[in-house]
Amino acid sequence: MAEQIENPKIKPEELRVEKLSNAHAEIIKNMCSYEPELVDFLLEDALNQQNRKISVTYLWFLRKTNELVAYVTVSPDCVKLKKINPELSQKFRDKGINYKSLPALKIGRLCVDDKFQKRGIGNLIIQFSINIAIKLSQQVGCRFLYLDAKRNPDSSKDAIHFYKKMGFELYKERDTRETPLYMDLWPFMEELADN
Ligand SMILES: CC(C)(COP(=O)(O)OP(=O)(O)OC[C@H]1O[C@@H](n2cnc3c(N)ncnc32)[C@H](O)[C@@H]1OP(=O)(O)O)[C@@H](O)C(=O)NCCC(=O)NCCS
Repeated sequence: MAEQIENPKIKPEELRVEKLSNAHAEIIKNMCSYEPELVDFLLEDALNQQNRKISVTYLWFLRKTNELVAYVTVSPDCVKLKKINPELSQKFRDKGINYKSLPALKIGRLCVDDKFQKRGIGNLIIQFSINIAIKLSQQVGCRFLYLDAKRNPDSSKDAIHFYKKMGFELYKERDTRETPLYMDLWPFMEELADN
């Protein structure tokens, strides 16, 4: 209970999202994560990749203090069905969809600053990414959210638990440092069609 009072969930209206640009060169240096590779990517590669049209990075700020609290990097991708995940492939074949791969939005990087963990920001970023994927689905087609979850031997830092809670499913078992996961966006699209 005490923890809940000290660290209440952050509401969407308390946050501001900006697309990464040169203007953020100084503020991104404040990003702090127990996964240093994610900080390095933001500082060294994110803007280059964006300028080359490979991915787009969105920064999340706490409106009140202007602190950088998180970032997410997204890019178009595809989920290969047949060779990698025969079960998923069969599910689509049963519906008359026989393609070898289907379009997806990939969450290439997602990082919540260490100071702001477990306050609901990761959840809001997944909702944000779902919304981007739904917009894409209406313009060019997009069926899945896809990502490689970073594994950590410390279970409290193992991102797979977070993603499973958000509704992602195992795409392929891999006993390395990353586990691919996917989310079929169809239920969200059906809900939109009903309204
Ligand atoms: C993984 C990460 C993005 C989660 O972000 P977050 O803002 O802390 O997550 P949220 O507060 O939105 O959590 C949403 C739910 O998932 C749960 N959750 C979050 N991290 C979890 C973990 N490691 N294990 C189990 N549950 C977890 C939360 O308790 C919360 O549950 P609730 O809705 O019942 O309260 C964040 O911890 C992070 O950036 N970690 C470092 C970098 C990293 O691993 N990024 C992922 C790269 S693939």
